[in-house]
Amino acid sequence: MIGRLNHVAIAVPDLEAAAAQYRDALGASVGPAVDQPDHGVTVVFVDLPNTKIEFLHPLGADSPIAGFLAKNPAGGMHHVCYEVDDIRAARDRLVETGARVLGDGEPKIGAHGKPVLFLHPKDFTGVLVELEEV
Ligand code: CO
Repeated sequence: MIGRLNHVAIAVPDLEAAAAQYRDALGASVGPAVDQPDHGVTVVFVDLPNTKIEFLHPLGADSPIAGFLAKNPAGGMHHVCYEVDDIRAARDRLVETGARVLGDGEPKIGAHGKPVLFLHPKDFTGVLVELEEV
């Protein structure tokens, strides 16, 4: 059902430092910082030949990643995102298997302008999983 790894998201306490490290030390292609007020994050995308890295930094008072950074002050892997062809079909199949979909279970428009869902990390080997319809 799942297809390509779309991105790995890393929560970072210092977006500029993370971007500079990936650009200068790792030699990666690093995009600009983009505020996404609807999602409570500022993001920087790192383009790799086979996938992307998404740096997440809290934006605003109710950022969904503020708690994660409080527990992981140095930053850490926040989620992985897999591509699916049909997000509602994927959700229905997952719910049938007992997996928990976060929120109200309806796909939301994600950071790339496409429908996304998040699956509970306790149901997926301790890792928050994002599904994105492509
Ligand atoms: Co993501």
